Amino acid sequence: MKRSVAVIGAGPAGLTLANLIQQSGIDCVVLERASRSHVETRARAGVLEHRSVMLLQSLGLADRLLAEADRHGTCEFRVNGQAFQVAFSDLYEGRQQYVYPQQEVVKDLIGAFLDAGGDIRFSVSDVELRNLTSSQPSVVWTSADGVREAITADFVAGCDGFHGVSRKSIPEGSLTEFTHQHGIEWLSILAEAPPSTKAVIYALHADGFAGHMLRSSTISRFYLQVPVGTKAEDWSDEQIWEALHKRFALHDSSWTLTEGKIIEKRVLDMRSYVVEPMSHGRLYLLGDAAHIITPVGGKGMNLAMNDAATFGRALIDFYGTGSETGLKTYSEDCLRSVWRAQEFSQWMVNMIHTDMQSPFFGRLAQARLEHLSQSPAYQASFAENYVGPIE
Ligand code: APR
Repeated sequence: MKRSVAVIGAGPAGLTLANLIQQSGIDCVVLERASRSHVETRARAGVLEHRSVMLLQSLGLADRLLAEADRHGTCEFRVNGQAFQVAFSDLYEGRQQYVYPQQEVVKDLIGAFLDAGGDIRFSVSDVELRNLTSSQPSVVWTSADGVREAITADFVAGCDGFHGVSRKSIPEGSLTEFTHQHGIEWLSILAEAPPSTKAVIYALHADGFAGHMLRSSTISRFYLQVPVGTKAEDWSDEQIWEALHKRFALHDSSWTLTEGKIIEKRVLDMRSYVVEPMSHGRLYLLGDAAHIITPVGGKGMNLAMNDAATFGRALIDFYGTGSETGLKTYSEDCLRSVWRAQEFSQWMVNMIHTDMQSPFFGRLAQARLEHLSQSPAYQASFAENYVGPIE
């Protein structure tokens, strides 16, 4: 079998790329380790930036998203029992964030790709990448039926997440890794609880951060800063609700938190990680395969889509005109956005947590929040970073 591009992984990065290049007549196969139902129901990120929505819309892939996603233009901060809001959309020419769960993005992209005749192999195993520095790399895998299969391709797109096979196929010493442990952990909670707020809430409390994120009219996501080394099972549902009530509490307000059945709780790896360069020979790394970021600021899925747009454009140029310019600058183009997002996420991490390294940092966080609550210039800068770049 021969294809122009072999795409490893059917997450937001792989599926955006596959749709983009297929629409330009570039043939590809997508190899996914999990089943279709698994990837279409796996709850993960949920925030799309303006830029990502524009990309999907330009590809005709945003119809359901635009009909169903909640748009947000304001977020709320709570500190010492006081709340203030930042109307980031008003501060950034009306651009908004779209709340649309990652699994719905994945469902839409799989549907569109298959409807247009695309080839996805689900439930594959033992994917191996070979001859990556030749002009004809190959990919070998075991199909869902247990048959060993292979293709040669012009390019391999490694879109298989942080734990995938793509990055691991690059010889040691070829990549530089940048990694940072933020010294915090989050307990992530998904609950069958209608939102208790119209705007995302970030609360700084002496016990630690609490976050109220929005997912749908019946489901909410919450985060609690927990001591490093905590296990999810250390926290009973009662303790979780008690902590959320306490950390979100406001003086002088009748605001209440609506509880619901907790359907998922897990401790999040709050690490940041970037590899440079994001390519090796004919293998190009996209999304979480090349970089992970904390959930603070909601950038993960958007960076994955930006990588797909950048690599997709480079491939269209290569097949259309023979130019290799986009392929050559792919890594540096993507890394510029990646580091910008990492910088913002780190800035925000420092603003909403207590005792990250010492109580000193808790006081700095309070000072930063106070500045944000009072300064229009600081709010405008926050808005620009929070909403994300224009293109
Ligand atoms: N072979 C084939 N597929 C694989 C392999 C493998 N060896 N390893 C992993 N995969 C698949 C996973 O099952 C998953 O469906 O690759 C896909 C990678 O998807 P994501 O992890 O969603 O990564 P990406 O597309 O880069 O999107 C990044 O995901 O973690 C969130 O917050 C992050 O929103 C961001 C987004």
